[in-house]
Amino acid sequence: MNEDGGSEWVALREDDGRAYLLQRTPGEVKVKGLGRFDVEQLLNGYSIGDRITVGQKSLSIVDPALPEARRNMARRAQVIGIKDSGFLISWMGIGVGSKVLEGGHGSAGLAMHLANVLGSSGTLISVESRPEHAEVGRANMERLAEVLPEFPDWHLIDGDLIEVGQAVSGICQSLDAAIIDVAEPWQVVPTIEPLLRAGGRLACYCPTTVQLERSWESAQRQGLVIEWAGEMIERKWVKASKGGVRPGNQPMGHTAFLLIAAKIVPHEEE
Ligand SMILES: C[S@@+](CC[C@H](N)C(=O)[O-])C[C@H]1O[C@@H](n2cnc3c(N)ncnc32)[C@H](O)[C@@H]1O
Repeated sequence: MNEDGGSEWVALREDDGRAYLLQRTPGEVKVKGLGRFDVEQLLNGYSIGDRITVGQKSLSIVDPALPEARRNMARRAQVIGIKDSGFLISWMGIGVGSKVLEGGHGSAGLAMHLANVLGSSGTLISVESRPEHAEVGRANMERLAEVLPEFPDWHLIDGDLIEVGQAVSGICQSLDAAIIDVAEPWQVVPTIEPLLRAGGRLACYCPTTVQLERSWESAQRQGLVIEWAGEMIERKWVKASKGGVRPGNQPMGHTAFLLIAAKIVPHEEE
């Protein structure tokens, strides 16, 4: 049991980074990739930091964190990955105590990264219009809440971003940041912009150039100033079999163009 009386989670980690999340509850469970067993019986006599053999696999027993939770998350919609989540969080100045809106919530890929940095003083508002996606996202977030030492005040609004103004105002006075990941981000920018505090930032995640251009224009029409637009290119390196390190054979894949815009204080009329 953890301090809150909930069941404790542990991660069994393969040396290559693959990980399995296990909850210390009595009774047999099936863990995809590992088999069927009683977790309490399996871990009896072992502690965090020990090595254990399960079937043919030799695994490290570790405390789970965001990477382990992500590797075990259920996915329905396309998720925002580490590369873009990390960049958005740092560029937008999101951290402990921030008040952040994100939508569409989908499978909670981005929301999990946000929850990881907001701490218990932060507020996270997620919006999702499709209940079948919200259900997957909620399950991923509920499990993350049991894994992380601190979790923000999290609200999942079942609805359309375009109509979310009143619901958000009922939760917090103004937002520090908002990240929009829907097919037509430019349509919701006019709803979200008034919810931002002066100096707050809005980002759009745009897989195509058309989405980027329309979102850019929509943000400017709302009086926002574009601070950064472009894409993050990631190139992974590997250890070569004959010695040395070199870029791997995997192609550089496109994820999305990112647009980050800031709310400024309007100029005084002359
Ligand atoms: C690409 S997925 C979001 C992925 C999510 N950001 C993540 O990182 O896992 C887009 C989601 O937006 C939802 N969506 C589309 N239009 C929406 C709207 N106007 N309001 C709220 N959600 C919307 C879709 O149902 C879908 O689940």
